[in-house]
Amino acid sequence: MNKSDIHPIEDRLIPQGLKEKLLGHKGAVFWLYGLSGSGKSTLAIEMEHRLHQQSIHSVVLDGDNLRSGLNSDLGFSNQDRGENIRRVSEIAKLFSANGIITLVSLISPLREFRKKAKSIIGENHFHEVFIKASYATCQKRDVKGLYAKAEKGMVQSFTGQGSEFEEPETDCLIIDSENENPQQSADLLFNYISQAISLP
Ligand code: ADX
Repeated sequence: MNKSDIHPIEDRLIPQGLKEKLLGHKGAVFWLYGLSGSGKSTLAIEMEHRLHQQSIHSVVLDGDNLRSGLNSDLGFSNQDRGENIRRVSEIAKLFSANGIITLVSLISPLREFRKKAKSIIGENHFHEVFIKASYATCQKRDVKGLYAKAEKGMVQSFTGQGSEFEEPETDCLIIDSENENPQQSADLLFNYISQAISLP
């Protein structure tokens, strides 16, 4: 493929600001990351419901869902996780640039992955949210039974066991799902989202 034969049409589309005015809020990506079982998907779903109740449309991009379709060709090596995050970042960028509130729920284990997501989406629309819960806590919850399987060596490259998870170093919102109750975590995140999407 010759790149000079590709002619994007962005400049002929309605600008993001006008779409946001129409919708009554900013487009934004809330990138929820943390260990499997930390509560990312639960929180993303709760945010979708709360926004819907306020007549605000949003989209949830969830790792397990996407890995059942668009990303079904990817595994859990760091190379595949990087590609997973790159693709989801590009989709999230499309949604947010069209004024849509986009709730991403992906483990995103390495800092370089989160940095890449931010650079693709653009820092003005990217909100990094760490859903904090230790391996031991997620193992106790073990909603999907994956931790028990991983202990028996039945899950290759399991995050936190055979595959590394890096906690954030940069400034970001931290939802401490280990020490807060679900209602507290949801309230905190919802307040943050409400402020971040409000138009001046
Ligand atoms: S990421 O690392 O590429 O961001 P992603 O969020 O898409 O991961 O997928 C994680 C989900 O896949 C987990 O919630 C879990 O249900 C499932 N899963 C299956 N195998 C693994 C594994 N080896 N490590 C982590 N999660 C896994």
